[in-house]
Amino acid sequence: MTTMTAPQPPIFDKGLANTVAAETQMSFIDGGKGVLEYVGIDIDTLARNSNFEETVYLLWNTRLPTRVELDGLRRALQAEYEIPDAIYDMIKSFPKDAVPMHALRTLVSALALHDADATSSDTSAAGIEKAKRQALRLVAKTPTLIANFDRHRSGKPFVRPNKDFDIATNFLWMLNGEKPTDAMTKGLDVCLILHADHGLNASTFAGRVTIATLSDMYSAMTTAVGTLKGPLHGGANEEVMYMLNEIGSIDNVEPFIKGKLERKELIMGFGHRVYKAYDPRATYLKTFAKQIATDTGNLKLFEMSQKIEGIVLAAKADKGIFPNVDFYSATTYHCLGIKTDLFTCMFALSRMSGWTGHCIEQLKDNRLIRPQAMYTGPHGAAYTPIAQR
Ligand code: CMC
Repeated sequence: MTTMTAPQPPIFDKGLANTVAAETQMSFIDGGKGVLEYVGIDIDTLARNSNFEETVYLLWNTRLPTRVELDGLRRALQAEYEIPDAIYDMIKSFPKDAVPMHALRTLVSALALHDADATSSDTSAAGIEKAKRQALRLVAKTPTLIANFDRHRSGKPFVRPNKDFDIATNFLWMLNGEKPTDAMTKGLDVCLILHADHGLNASTFAGRVTIATLSDMYSAMTTAVGTLKGPLHGGANEEVMYMLNEIGSIDNVEPFIKGKLERKELIMGFGHRVYKAYDPRATYLKTFAKQIATDTGNLKLFEMSQKIEGIVLAAKADKGIFPNVDFYSATTYHCLGIKTDLFTCMFALSRMSGWTGHCIEQLKDNRLIRPQAMYTGPHGAAYTPIAQR
């Protein structure tokens, strides 16, 4: 006789902080020790030695590429940099004061209209290959969308992608209309590596929820971009820059930050759901931000940031509040000449690689993601006709 196991009573876990909702081979985080690895390789090692394309290969294939494989991925991405003319026309129709993440979310969604592969997903081998083709296009085209939206709103003519360039060079080329210096390219490339993947963060989870319904990759990425936008997630890097501007001077750091702490307000760029130690991405970015701030005459920004860090750590380190990736990436992006309201789009440009990789992982071992809600409302309530309410 077989016995049925009684279903476990659901556990209420607000914010899902203690829920493991997916398996992944892409990134590993030890929040207590401040460790982040992509496929077992320490993030600091990758930041120092790798490049964004190689990191994308690593995340998508869970191993490092040979030179031939890396060249193959580069060429495949370059062949997909260009966006349809209809998308350029769409950008032209956007208001010049559009919120960049609204523009990006809309454009990512619109790309599906021009991709015959953007049909419902399936978990067969052919379905996985179809998802990979969409992933490649999304990673390749996102820089073109962001840079040319920025050119449109600045009243500048579009700059078409250059298929001889890597992703970081090509993005800065389109954004500024001139080839960047090697130092600028390196700076952006490092930021792209550091932001590429991060476990089951909110936007990755949102993307996986969408693809798990067997929707298409563009729908999943539209969901993910929308989720990243929030100031508790990817939007924090912009908020850090606005805070630095508001503080304005080294002398104002102490009264400003202490005042915020006294009022129990959040200091943007600090704290993390997972890290209760120094975010390892911030460790690398801090050194990098100092260098690029010095090189570009923005040392004051770095010094202000460092002073903020000292005050917040003195008050909050014992509660596990340390700088996160967004804190020093704000100074870095600013020094690269990227406008503050584009910072979250830069996060999306990089994270598109992790999001799509996670969606492919999800399809390979799919189950609809459908948690339960704890109902806290009444039962058996009367229906009162509208005229009597
Ligand atoms: N400044 C001051 N206090 C803070 C901060 C902060 N940035 N972050 C957390 N705390 C305090 C919080 O007030 C709470 O104190 P208490 O126990 O007295 O109520 C305690 O620390 C625990 O915080 P929590 O809100 O329960 O932590 P959480 O895991 O729910 O939230 C967070 C994590 C990232 C949403 C939060 O730290 C935060 O809002 N930080 C500022 C926004 C930010 O920088 N976000 C970017 C995150 S990194 C990029 C990414 O991966 O998305």
